[in-house]
Amino acid sequence: MDMSRRTVVAGAAAAGVTAALSGTAHATGGRHPVKELFGRLADGTKVYRWSLENGGTRMKVLSYGGIVQALEIPDSRGRYRNVSLGFADLDDYVASSPYFGALIGRYGNRIAKGRFTLDGTTHQLSVNDGENSLHGGERGFDKRVWDVEPFTRGSDVGLRLYCTSADGEMGYPGTLKSKVTYTLTRGGDWRIDYEATTDRATVVNLTSHVYWNLAGEGSGSIYDHEVSIAASRYTPVDAGLIPTGELAKVAGTPFDFRRAKAVGRDIRVAHQQLLYGKGIDHNWVLDKGITGTPEHVATLRDPGSGRTMRMATTEPGLQFYSGNFLDGTLVGTGGAVYRQGDALCLETQHFPDSPNQPAFPSTVLRPGQVYRSTTVHSFGV
Ligand code: GLA
Repeated sequence: MDMSRRTVVAGAAAAGVTAALSGTAHATGGRHPVKELFGRLADGTKVYRWSLENGGTRMKVLSYGGIVQALEIPDSRGRYRNVSLGFADLDDYVASSPYFGALIGRYGNRIAKGRFTLDGTTHQLSVNDGENSLHGGERGFDKRVWDVEPFTRGSDVGLRLYCTSADGEMGYPGTLKSKVTYTLTRGGDWRIDYEATTDRATVVNLTSHVYWNLAGEGSGSIYDHEVSIAASRYTPVDAGLIPTGELAKVAGTPFDFRRAKAVGRDIRVAHQQLLYGKGIDHNWVLDKGITGTPEHVATLRDPGSGRTMRMATTEPGLQFYSGNFLDGTLVGTGGAVYRQGDALCLETQHFPDSPNQPAFPSTVLRPGQVYRSTTVHSFGV
């Protein structure tokens, strides 16, 4: 969290509105995660919801899909809103969620024809997006029930989520053991650390699919939100949203977000790539490349509420999706209908279809190696 946010929280407390900021005694204090039953799957499996809070950020996380069901942060006057799209009930997540708030695996984004060759063996994955495999296939990590373990460590609070994917699940080789750690820091940052190991060579690309609307879920479109992305290139796609392999310059295109720009400013430009995506649905090639520690890559700002989110990551790519497939058929957490452009996703990742693109950074994981990836979201006003 930046200094301006801390000042605001202190100012609000001084004005005697601490109670409005939080149901707990300390508006900015950490709270050990609390568990409650959220629902049951058709086979009777219990799904739990964990509530945690630290540094002025509040989160609700489901054991189903590791889904962030709600993420609440204050505006410049200390008013909290849930800034991530979701559902009130488990049944809706199971029936029709477009990955709201979910952990994505084994492979975030698309693999062409759901097929790739590794060490001379061709693997056929579950195909669930036209002829392609998207976000891990028919039953990806977003639909798995994770084992969740809460923790308090110094001034941090968080959850460790575990999931084992069997050799051959959704067509992927190797038993993949994943551990994802959600940490809320004393400063109110939400940090995600991903780890995975395998017993056979495989491909991995884990990410998080939160739909952001910093004005609050259900409050309308994000076309006024300003986005900046530290990327000079992006990966153009074909009609099936598979990268052509080119790393195209953003300069002079609607994809230039090197300086903060409203999402809606160029979204109606008749650019072939925007037609393919039905808006923005592309991977940006982050200038910093792969890094050992998270580096700043993007900022999101809602001018109306003043809420901001800064993102830092170790990953080389960022999928920016402008909620193009939200079509007015889903009723969200707060009871409002979600329509096209009501939220946006910023998915840190390796590039789409990397297993079929030798020139892209590799997503191969071999026995003995540990897959690691970290993304940090910092909220402010
Ligand atoms: C990702 C994809 C989009 C879309 C959404 C889910 O962001 O890139 O094309 O499939 O997930 O609806």
